[in-house]
Amino acid sequence: MHALSMLVTAGLFLAPPALTSSTGKRPNIVFILSDDQDLEMGSINYMPLLDKYLSAKGTTYERHYCTTALCCPARASILTGKMAHNHNAHSMEGGYPKVVQEGINDDYLPLWLQEAGWDTYYVGKLWNAHSTDNYNSPRARGWNGSDFLLDPYTYDFYNPTFVRNYDEPIHHENEYSTDLVSQKALGFLDDASKSARPFFLGVAPVAPHSNTEYVNVNGTMKPVTSAPLPAKRHANLFDEVVVPRTPHFNPKTPSGVYWVRDLPRLNQSHVDANDLYYRQRLRSLQAVDEMIEAIVQKLEEHNMLDHTYIIYTSDNGFHVGQHRLEPGKFCPFEEDVHIPLFIRGPGVPENEHAPIVTTHTDLAPTFLSMVGAPMRSDMDGEAIPLTRHDIDASIGNRYEHVQVEYWGYAVSEGDYAYQGYLIPNNTYKALRIVSDEYSFYYSIWCNNEHELYDMKNDPYQLENRYPISPADGNRAAFFGRPLSQVLNRFDALTMVLKTCKSEGCVKPWKLLHPAGDVTNLKDAVNPKFDSFYENDVPKVKYDHCSQGFFLEFEGPIYNQSIAFIPG
Ligand SMILES: *[C@@H]1O[C@H](CO)[C@@H](O)[C@H](O)[C@H]1NC(C)=O
Ligand SMILES: *[C@@H]1O[C@H](CO)[C@@H](O)[C@H](O)[C@H]1NC(C)=O
Ligand SMILES: *[C@@H]1O[C@H](CO)[C@@H](O)[C@H](O)[C@H]1NC(C)=O
Ligand SMILES: *[C@@H]1O[C@H](CO)[C@@H](O)[C@H](O)[C@H]1NC(C)=O
Ligand SMILES: *[C@@H]1O[C@H](CO)[C@@H](O)[C@H](O)[C@H]1NC(C)=O
Repeated sequence: MHALSMLVTAGLFLAPPALTSSTGKRPNIVFILSDDQDLEMGSINYMPLLDKYLSAKGTTYERHYCTTALCCPARASILTGKMAHNHNAHSMEGGYPKVVQEGINDDYLPLWLQEAGWDTYYVGKLWNAHSTDNYNSPRARGWNGSDFLLDPYTYDFYNPTFVRNYDEPIHHENEYSTDLVSQKALGFLDDASKSARPFFLGVAPVAPHSNTEYVNVNGTMKPVTSAPLPAKRHANLFDEVVVPRTPHFNPKTPSGVYWVRDLPRLNQSHVDANDLYYRQRLRSLQAVDEMIEAIVQKLEEHNMLDHTYIIYTSDNGFHVGQHRLEPGKFCPFEEDVHIPLFIRGPGVPENEHAPIVTTHTDLAPTFLSMVGAPMRSDMDGEAIPLTRHDIDASIGNRYEHVQVEYWGYAVSEGDYAYQGYLIPNNTYKALRIVSDEYSFYYSIWCNNEHELYDMKNDPYQLENRYPISPADGNRAAFFGRPLSQVLNRFDALTMVLKTCKSEGCVKPWKLLHPAGDVTNLKDAVNPKFDSFYENDVPKVKYDHCSQGFFLEFEGPIYNQSIAFIPG
């Protein structure tokens, strides 16, 4: 191997500071992160300004996924480049205290960007459980300017509390959260424009997350959660809009694993509440849409637009009524994990759709590559290709899997939330494997129930093929190979991904085939590997339903740093 490429592979090569070719200026980054925004239910179809300024002027990464369908672990993955099983900020009660405890506050994106010479700003929700009590002990590190939303008012759309640069928190009575986030973001852009240094600005409104306000119940303040609240000017939009009536919306036949399969069919009151909930989400996104335009115009006003990347995504997805589920997240279903990602900026093709798989663990590597900072060897993702050349080169050569992981409870939201009732044992590993030719979902739950959906033929995940019948198992299902053989590959892939680290998460086939002769599913289904997959790789199974990633409860595991079962 060439010495230089060895250094690059080892993550040791220090790239020069990025210069954008057209302007010779170091690029800025504006990162817009919405909260709980779906792609599958069509939320972006109601955001014309996002379409005008980001989609038409940039690239849509149409196979983008979060790796954990919950805000804190998803945000931790975005800001560290690590899977939840490596950053460990995955428990639902976690939030900011857990982030601090796991050392994330001392070693994450904004600090790396400052080291690279970028000034960093952040507005809105950084973490859940980042509160008026703990914001100063310790402070969220790494920001030159910050204006964080704080609990217990983070999700109170009309009474938010912000803390600016660690001063005293300020409560905004009767002011609309997203509009405040927008104004504050524009203010930081004004500040940044006065500096010769490039900047990163994170902008994180809470829309379309549900609204939580505190009401006085007999002298005690109690949280009450409802659908998100729109700005008053958007309150009456979309009166006729309902949740898309896809085949998996409140289906006649139950679907999914045990606790989902046991849900009763929604009656008309529940369906009406779900439709209203959905409309409120779309209405609440209108202020986000307007904010996108305001940000683009502000960048233009300061002559910064041509050397600024704008990235738009959400922390995780959301479901409303699919599989009979009340509004919520936490699930590995496509609604909860397949999310928007748009990027515009220097060199990024306009009005382009990139058919490659990307995940949240790729975002930190992408930001580092945008600023020309060295890659970090402990990140579990890889930089997203941004130029036409790199996008084209990655098609067919990039990874095609997503590992989704979760441990613990699921909760629901909305008027008919499973009141006060947490669904326990929502612990699972789910694999998505997606290319132009195939699209599969495979999961193993902590009670050792499995799911297998062939999503080319069953895009709504209604027909679980597991356990496969002998006839089904022998039928040629995939490039002439029987489904039972393909299933062994899915299981082995899950086995290595559930404890993967760094490059192993991006190139898992190489862990299974160290010779490097297998780089995708199509290679792996070769009959010459049947015996290896059948006999040599232990099957994924759980010993226990745990509330977090504990090696002792993970069943058989593969240890990447020791060695592997010989091939
Ligand atoms: C931003 O913070 C970093 C780290 O503290 C510091 O080196 C840099 O000078 C700051 N930028 C400005 C404009 O003060
Ligand atoms: C408030 O207290 C009154 C008197 O104790 C009681 O009757 C009522 O149910 C309480 N309301 C709620 C919402 O708990
Ligand atoms: C639907 O079920 C709820 C209880 O979950 C009940 O309050 C409501 O009256 C029912 N609506 C209809 C139309 O049956
Ligand atoms: C959840 O899992 C635990 C441990 O495996 C088990 O003891 C318990 O019965 C399960 N609870 C439910 C409601 O399934
Ligand atoms: C793998 O083995 C090493 C060395 O014994 C240990 O430090 C590490 O925690 C193990 N990791 C996993 C995921 O088992």
